[in-house]
Amino acid sequence: MSVRIAPSVLSTDLGRLREQVTEAAAGGAEWMHVDVMDGHFVPNLTFGLPIIRALRGVTGLPLDVHLMVERPEQYIADYADAGAAVFTFHPEATVHVQRHLASIRAHGMRAGLALNPGTPLTYLEEVVADVDLVLIMSVNPGFGGQRYIPASTAKIARVAAMLAQAGSSAAIEVDGGITVDTIAQAHRAGADTFVAGTAVFGEPDIAEAVRALKRACLVST
Ligand code: DX5
Ligand code: ZN
Repeated sequence: MSVRIAPSVLSTDLGRLREQVTEAAAGGAEWMHVDVMDGHFVPNLTFGLPIIRALRGVTGLPLDVHLMVERPEQYIADYADAGAAVFTFHPEATVHVQRHLASIRAHGMRAGLALNPGTPLTYLEEVVADVDLVLIMSVNPGFGGQRYIPASTAKIARVAAMLAQAGSSAAIEVDGGITVDTIAQAHRAGADTFVAGTAVFGEPDIAEAVRALKRACLVST
């Protein structure tokens, strides 16, 4: 199964954004993951459109935007204009989930649905034909540097089975606590896209850290 690494900008030194993103790309990172937080849906406040625009000028990699905000639908058009490739939101943050997934696609982005550790798969089941990506949170969102919740592995396998059953080729992305020690189990369970913040930008050699994550997946196959 393919392996796509999406380093999380949340863990960069923003003063060295260009340099650190370029190093991650040199290590073979496929996407850049951008965590947008509003201080309401999650207990932390990060960044928004200006960082997407800045990143567009820094890298050609697809921007994988993860919105941890209330009413994410307000921002679909703006993020599309700013150059986001993937727009992922949490179903509890809004009401008309199916409509918003369709709108994201209509704006030319991949539509992602994020599931918190406590969020049941029924949310996904109802809209499985409308998603291009399922983001399985393996920590409770809000902060980088947390520990991978072990129950996430079985949840990834259940999502993989649900997608296969539905004939969906949506990507399965896992986010939170991904390291060289936890990535293999997530990969074996069926994840193909791996967000990593601390395990990439917290390492002295950023390019090598991306390569190490990929190697840890290969060992597991
Ligand atoms: C958590 C964010 C993650 C975070 C991952 O709320 O959604 O994307 O940046 O950071 P690490 O890899 O350090 O757990
Ligand atoms: Zn994220």
